[in-house]
Amino acid sequence: MKGAIMARALRPKDRETTAARLLDSSVRNSYDPLLDIDWDAPIAADKGFLPPEKVSLYGTELWDRLTPEQRVELAKHEIGSVASVGLWTEIVLMQLLARYAEGLDPRSPHAQYALTEIGDETRHSIMFGKALTRFGVPAYGPPRLVRRLSPLFKAVVGGAAMFASVLVVEEMTDRLQRSTVDDESIQPLIRMVNRIHVIEEARHVRYAREELVRELLTVRRPMLELHRTVTAVVAVSVANILIHPRVYAAVGIDPRQGRAAALANPHHRATRRWMAEKIVDFLTEVGMIGGPSKLLWRRAGLIG
Ligand SMILES: [Fe+2]
Ligand SMILES: [Fe+2]
Repeated sequence: MKGAIMARALRPKDRETTAARLLDSSVRNSYDPLLDIDWDAPIAADKGFLPPEKVSLYGTELWDRLTPEQRVELAKHEIGSVASVGLWTEIVLMQLLARYAEGLDPRSPHAQYALTEIGDETRHSIMFGKALTRFGVPAYGPPRLVRRLSPLFKAVVGGAAMFASVLVVEEMTDRLQRSTVDDESIQPLIRMVNRIHVIEEARHVRYAREELVRELLTVRRPMLELHRTVTAVVAVSVANILIHPRVYAAVGIDPRQGRAAALANPHHRATRRWMAEKIVDFLTEVGMIGGPSKLLWRRAGLIG
């Protein structure tokens, strides 16, 4: 298994070296969104919320019927939906990380970084919450079914599947946010929020990627297939819930009709695949995508 080969290159002592570096980077480069963002700055009238081609209905007949103002409005609700789902997953992650840290030696940099990451995520969730308020969009969040299943997920998930699930959420949303940071056609507030998030998430991704590789050293079949299946279910669920169907109602489109048009839209399917591309490559390389559950990724259009 490739994961085992990679894991052999990462000795346990590297775990503490990495964590020490991440702690050092956190001291030098962390943000407090309450102080570092000007929440009262005016919203730019001529700026968008997402590049148009990243909006789920771009290129469809429904899109053609929207006015330029409605297209901007839809983009605002879509990025709001993505942020609200991201915020919710961060709160789930904080709970998982707190449980993980409970079992670690608090003197170790590895434990201290887990706690630092919880701190980052609390600030991120407040930042996204304030951004939703500032732009006047609902906290759409995940659908009721996903909220109901969340306690079960939190109770059973751990090890490789936990780190892989975290990476799927962080890296998919990161790709979208990263693409707006240098885009001058996007609202300055969105770019600032995304810049802060991208910088701090890069450390989280490093921590989780390395820990996943180490975890994989200890996983044997058939447990590997279970970890792969959980990860695939999380990836498909996240891809499906990022844009809440109610966003379409904000521009007078029936939610069911809008959702169906988005799912059939080749541009949107390409966007989903693009968002998943980097994490799919990594999970494939380390052996977390493979076996029967690969079909779930393929059916959701997240791999070619
Ligand atoms: Fe975050
Ligand atoms: Fe994170």
